[in-house]
Amino acid sequence: MAPQSNISVFETPEQLALSAAERFVEYASQLRDMAERFSVALAGGNTPRRVYELLATEPLRKQVDWSKVYLFFGDERCVPPEHPDSNYAMAYEALISKVPIPAKNVHRIIGEGNANENALAYEKQLRTFFAGRHWPHFDLVLLGMGEDGHTASLFPNSAALKEMSRCVVPTRNEQSGQDRITLTVPVFNHGRRIMFLVTGKKKAQRLRQVLHPQPGSAQLPVQAITPIEGMLEWLVDAEAASLL
Ligand code: 6PG
Repeated sequence: MAPQSNISVFETPEQLALSAAERFVEYASQLRDMAERFSVALAGGNTPRRVYELLATEPLRKQVDWSKVYLFFGDERCVPPEHPDSNYAMAYEALISKVPIPAKNVHRIIGEGNANENALAYEKQLRTFFAGRHWPHFDLVLLGMGEDGHTASLFPNSAALKEMSRCVVPTRNEQSGQDRITLTVPVFNHGRRIMFLVTGKKKAQRLRQVLHPQPGSAQLPVQAITPIEGMLEWLVDAEAASLL
């Protein structure tokens, strides 16, 4: 269970998005002097869109040294990059196309073509980028939570959720039938900072179950995210927090 002190409740989704964007800027600037690069695993879905837009807008945009930022993705839908479902497309429109980040710093998961091959290719990219480490160590991991308790594309009862050797695997959203590619639990758990972004009334019940689990209840994918050494932060809006 996430410690209470790491749960921040915001009156509106806009306030939440601003705080998430400001934290991104703060963490990026803290690390800049120590390391040459700030590596981030971006979340997909709708909630982070406003965070990305705010990062691409002044005054925050100019507070980031974009040449040191390396963007990866926590998961991707198996669609081409121009498809409306593509997480890359969303991040590209809201953020990547609007900030001076070098193209070589952006690592999209290829959604078109063979999912297993694409997962293996992304694994290779991660292993190269984080060479010398057994697992990737992202400086920042952004995640959302689905109404069923999934995070990234780690769905309840999926094999992907139990994967403990590979960094990236193909999987499927059984509810929608959409093929996906996702980073695995150990990758997320080696992140230095993990930030969950959760908004809306529809998530309230699930959030309560996640943060206040009943003894004996089945573990949900989000509950598998327990950083090994890093920090876990929950940014939630008042509606999502209404049953806490
Ligand atoms: C995706 C995600 C997924 C998402 C949640 C919440 O690709 O869909 O990475 O895990 O974060 O489903 O999505 P919303 O923010 O749209 O509610």
